[in-house]
Amino acid sequence: MTKTTSQQILVTTALPYANGSLHLGYMLEAIQADIWVRFQKLIGNTCIYVCGDDAHGTPIMLKAEKMGITPEALVAKIHTEHKQDLEDFSIGIDNFHTTHSPENQALATEIYRRLYKKGDITKRTIHQAYDPIKNLFLPDRYVKGECPKCGAKDQYGDNCEVCGATYSPTDLKNPISVISGATPIQKESLHYFFCLDHYEQMLKNWTKAGHVQPEVAKKLSEWFEVGLQQWDISRDGPYFGFEIPDAPNKYFYVWLDAPIGYMASFKNLCDSNKNPSLKFDDYWKEDSQTELYHFIGKDIIYFHALFWPALLAGSQFRTPTNVFAHGFLMVNGQRMSKSRGTLITARTYLNHLKPDYLRYYFASKLGSGIDDIDFQLDDFVQRVNSDLVGKLVNIASRCAGFIHQHFEGKLSTQCIETELYQKFITAGDSIVNHFQHREFSRAVREIMSLADDANRYIDDQKPWNLIKSPETRQKAHESCSVGLNLFRVLMIYLKPIVPNLTQEVETFLNCELTWKNRLTPLLGHAIQPFKPLLQRIELSEVNAMIEDSKENLTETSPAVQTNQAGETSKTSTVGLVAKEPIRETITIEDFTKIDLRIAKIITAEHVEEAQKLLKLTVDIGGETRQIFAGIKEAYKPEDLIGKLTVVVANLAPRKMRFGISEGMVLAAGPGGRDLWILEPHQGAEPGMRVK
Ligand code: 2FM
Ligand code: ZN
Repeated sequence: MTKTTSQQILVTTALPYANGSLHLGYMLEAIQADIWVRFQKLIGNTCIYVCGDDAHGTPIMLKAEKMGITPEALVAKIHTEHKQDLEDFSIGIDNFHTTHSPENQALATEIYRRLYKKGDITKRTIHQAYDPIKNLFLPDRYVKGECPKCGAKDQYGDNCEVCGATYSPTDLKNPISVISGATPIQKESLHYFFCLDHYEQMLKNWTKAGHVQPEVAKKLSEWFEVGLQQWDISRDGPYFGFEIPDAPNKYFYVWLDAPIGYMASFKNLCDSNKNPSLKFDDYWKEDSQTELYHFIGKDIIYFHALFWPALLAGSQFRTPTNVFAHGFLMVNGQRMSKSRGTLITARTYLNHLKPDYLRYYFASKLGSGIDDIDFQLDDFVQRVNSDLVGKLVNIASRCAGFIHQHFEGKLSTQCIETELYQKFITAGDSIVNHFQHREFSRAVREIMSLADDANRYIDDQKPWNLIKSPETRQKAHESCSVGLNLFRVLMIYLKPIVPNLTQEVETFLNCELTWKNRLTPLLGHAIQPFKPLLQRIELSEVNAMIEDSKENLTETSPAVQTNQAGETSKTSTVGLVAKEPIRETITIEDFTKIDLRIAKIITAEHVEEAQKLLKLTVDIGGETRQIFAGIKEAYKPEDLIGKLTVVVANLAPRKMRFGISEGMVLAAGPGGRDLWILEPHQGAEPGMRVK
């Protein structure tokens, strides 16, 4: 049913970590939220969508160190990248801020002080793994060793991926620090805890009041049964985050200030005065009448449905109206994988395909539950081509030509098919309901079934025959005008899903597509000449995207990223990627196996089909090798010829799409244009071993 009063709604998506590129797992969430936000706006509600980067924590600190830059510089760089990716996917975020901001520091401090005053913060000494070389307390994920249960080697400090056992890092046999390779020692430290247990009744009531999905409520009741534990909210320095007031060298744990980042982003938006009617208190004060929705992945329910409402309630702020969890993104039925090329970054996707295709495909699969969503590549191509191109756009292309060739580009002055048109309008009631309840796949199904009706209507009318005789010419005009009016209604329904296509259609139909407009057909209205609105996807484009995703990870690419907090098993990623180690160590024996040689670059040329690769021939001392190196953005081929560099000479040959690569050129730098191949000092000779 259509809402009659206008609502004020604030929407968030999880804040991505500022240590790596966004990939399609995150885009699933952003697209889901964006469709919902656009839908709310379409039906006349005020709906603000804020997000930002999750900038704090050990992994970001270490990654910056590894790159030789400050954490501030790293998060600033990633912030620009994330913002651009989201914009290019047409995600209409009103403010994309960061947790490393003055607003967030002020709010986190205030919330902490209020909780402290209430007696919700307690302190006690704990023992934790400590890296004696790096002088750093080690989060669970930074300790590896043998599983205490099954003996499997190379397991993280929190759980065994072989037998599934959970334990603490102190239980691991032969533990090592993932950062330095040193054996961790046990060291004690004073930690600050939030008394989540004080909020058990409040959280039970909140859950019962329908603020979460049924599946989530079930999960929460299991957690209630086990009992709520106090939550460790402090970390010792060195740590990239905010210092806790009156606690020198203690920092807020990244997950404490992350959700406060939602408030901070909104505060930043209010203070920017872009929208002077927006007031922070209206949305966050305890008795706020506005609505607050968090879109999240199902892996971070604990944080959003327990810690977060408790923190808010305890510090006299409003609690969320609802937390909308979604499932994980699978690709071809499996977890995303680097080696299969299915861990696709937002940018790699955009380099090959239009955002509306994926937006439509995700919408056609999304429901309100927490089931995983499968991105099946064949199905994707087929679905987009048959629905959007074959059915939807086809309606317009079948009718528009006649209007232009025979009727001066003007629609007829009367609508003959009132019953069919009425059917399209009435369907809006259930479509609106599906959108409202995040049942996008149902909405899509209903819209596509209407598209079938419209095509059938044109089949029956046969304007190509009607146009032939003067007696039926008028009928041809009218039936094509009906066809285009039906198309217009369908596009209004699809507006939240495919905003770019919608824009093109608005230009073509020469009118704005609004929810209300659908009630009155366009009569006697001039339209623009029809231009193809959408092209079919070629399977080759999808294959190239997959190849590119493999390529990103196998070249001399320093941009391989980790997306996890590295803190505990519950601190998983919004990106829902396969878990990858933060940093592996190798032994000195492993290192001596690497045959590093001075090489002279003899030829260098572009690989046309590859975005990042140059094909090199190098002389490694009487022997020439062909190497594909991911340095295309950084070097012109002609500038490389004659240069000396360093290569890994004993890397197993690798078959690539473009030929066999027989080694690897070493390079340094953050990537893209900022990448430098190693250049030995003069006097070096091709073939010399590098020691
Ligand atoms: O899991 C993650 O990737 C976190 N960066 C999500 C944070 S959501 C919110 F709390 F900020
Ligand atoms: Zn095990």
